[in-house]
Amino acid sequence: MASIVVSGGRPLRGSIRVSGAKNAALPILAGSLLTKAPVKLENCPRLRDVDNMLAILTELGVEAVWKDGALELDSSRAHSYVMPQGPSKELRSSIFMLGSLLGRFGHAVCTHPGGCEIGHRPIDLHIKGLTMLGADVRETHGVIVCDGENLTAADIHLDYPSVGATENIIMAAVGAEGETLIHNAAREPEIEDLQTFLNAQGHEISGAGSSTVRIVGKRPVRDDVVVEHRIMPDRIVAGTLLCGAAITGGEITLTGTAPAHLGSIIAKLREAGCQISARAQSIRLSAPERPGEIKLIETLPYPGFPTDMQAQFFALCCVAKGTSVIVENVFENRFKHGAELQRMGAIFTQKDRTIIIRGVEKLTGARVTAKDLRGGAALTIAGLAAEGETVVENAEFIDRGYERLEEMFLALGADIRREG
Ligand code: UD1
Repeated sequence: MASIVVSGGRPLRGSIRVSGAKNAALPILAGSLLTKAPVKLENCPRLRDVDNMLAILTELGVEAVWKDGALELDSSRAHSYVMPQGPSKELRSSIFMLGSLLGRFGHAVCTHPGGCEIGHRPIDLHIKGLTMLGADVRETHGVIVCDGENLTAADIHLDYPSVGATENIIMAAVGAEGETLIHNAAREPEIEDLQTFLNAQGHEISGAGSSTVRIVGKRPVRDDVVVEHRIMPDRIVAGTLLCGAAITGGEITLTGTAPAHLGSIIAKLREAGCQISARAQSIRLSAPERPGEIKLIETLPYPGFPTDMQAQFFALCCVAKGTSVIVENVFENRFKHGAELQRMGAIFTQKDRTIIIRGVEKLTGARVTAKDLRGGAALTIAGLAAEGETVVENAEFIDRGYERLEEMFLALGADIRREG
């Protein structure tokens, strides 16, 4: 197992380009099955989750190669709708494959998805939506079997705006006769990116980014023109880097980012006393020597504060002047980083989904363990500000969602390295 070793105390300074978004790339990779035309994806991050998704696609007969930094895919010879067990279990997002396999083949066989253990992560909304399109979905011994050769459009009301369910239903509805409407759809910008990609294939989808998405199924699509798409910038990577600068009293500029997607994150960083200016594709942050308290952070579906930034702000609040409160509304078991931060001297109390943090002047370096992706990033950020050396074990978790997080912080002047 690899570790990240940080010696804290150096303010982050400089400029860095933000990578492409994992949470856009994964459903888009699944969506590449919905065309037989060659696909070229620019700005696709090279991550462990992406590798796992490519391993799944390759088993199904998709050809995938990295060429000059772009990912080229050809699914014209895809022949199987049975997902391989190994990589599927590694990756929660393999659930997207249900919709795209149904859309392409009318059948899908998938094992129950894996991913970070950050709560229940049920898939009832996905299954309900696919069933409403006419798919017959059965689950036995952890294997999900879907059949739906003649899917038909439906009016689907989601009980909760689930990101994955919205994306899955969109991809299945592409293969359903007629016009499907998804009401109470998730509004995350990654869904808009998926829409752009699928429309570039010739499909007809509108409304992504709003709470009603419309999909006209069975559009005639061409397969003789290359489908080119540039993956949107990762708003969580951007937020993580900004938190790193905020916790160290640093000053950084992010380029290749989309400040419009970072509204709730920027608002909370300002509350902590950071000065932030944003242009079309760049953000500059200048942090006070010590962050101020943040009265209340409540995670919510987009455009609310993202649950994927909760852990990093938890770390920030640990050294803030005063008392901050965080409420995790999206996932019920997403505070595992708390116990690790305590080893570094963090002071907080927890009641159910609420954390009350009393900021201390300094955290102290310690040996800690990443329990999930964003929690691991939070421990690394805490290490940037701590006195002495912090070792974050299980760095593989962090690699699921960051292209070498330690190298990004190193480029901004941190004393950080990987071991193992
Ligand atoms: C996506 C993101 C993840 C982010 C999350 C919330 C990807 C690859 N992952 O995950 O990084 O943390 O959105 O913004 O894009 N739920 C149900 N039943 C379902 C589906 C979801 O009850 O069938 C619940 C979940 O338990 C959770 C909430 O809905 O409480 C949000 O889940 P969802 O939006 O589906 O998240 P993911 O798509 O898994």
